Amino acid sequence: MKIALFASGSGSNVEAILQAIRAETLYTTPAFVFSDRPNAPVLEKAKRYGVSTHMFRPRDFDSKQQYEESLLQLLDNYDVQWVVLAGYMRLLGATIVEPYTHRIVNIHPSLLPAFPGLDAVGQALGAGVEKTGVSIHYVDAGMDTGEIIQQETVPITSEDTKTSLEEKIKRVEHQLYPETLQQLFEERSKGVLQRDETGIDKCQ
Ligand code: GRF
Repeated sequence: MKIALFASGSGSNVEAILQAIRAETLYTTPAFVFSDRPNAPVLEKAKRYGVSTHMFRPRDFDSKQQYEESLLQLLDNYDVQWVVLAGYMRLLGATIVEPYTHRIVNIHPSLLPAFPGLDAVGQALGAGVEKTGVSIHYVDAGMDTGEIIQQETVPITSEDTKTSLEEKIKRVEHQLYPETLQQLFEERSKGVLQRDETGIDKCQ
């Protein structure tokens, strides 16, 4: 099972996933880390783990479609089965979403469907809710609208600032993302085994 990781920023979730692979609690092969930002710290982190990196910027292409066709070519070249988004700050278009339906996952810092989109932590604080959390979901063409795979609640206290809440959420994310990916890959590979035994595809 080969994965590609897409990230635009610091890459703490990418690092948690690479650590879990190294610790053999997550069984998968990281084909490469892709970033759409040349200075994204995630690129250096990936190199420290000996993982290949690729970077190109949408603005260097004539259209979003051409940008995503290059990305798709990269996924093909490495024979990638799953795309794992971890702070990738762009909406994926049909060029990638369609061929990878139910094989792209994302992590979002709220209990979806509450607070989709940008600054989910700020949105939760602004709304004055008592709890928020983390959601892991399949990616469809919408903004954080795909089917939810896993969620975990994070309580908000009156002392919480945006920084403290972000830290609490990240701690949960770093645990939950590798665990959920492992479960997902195990379930899928059991599905494939069932299909092999019975000749019927029960996986998809
Ligand atoms: C995470 O909070 C994730 O939920 C969101 O973007 C953030 C990425 O953080 N999609 P990092 O780059 O993994 O530290």
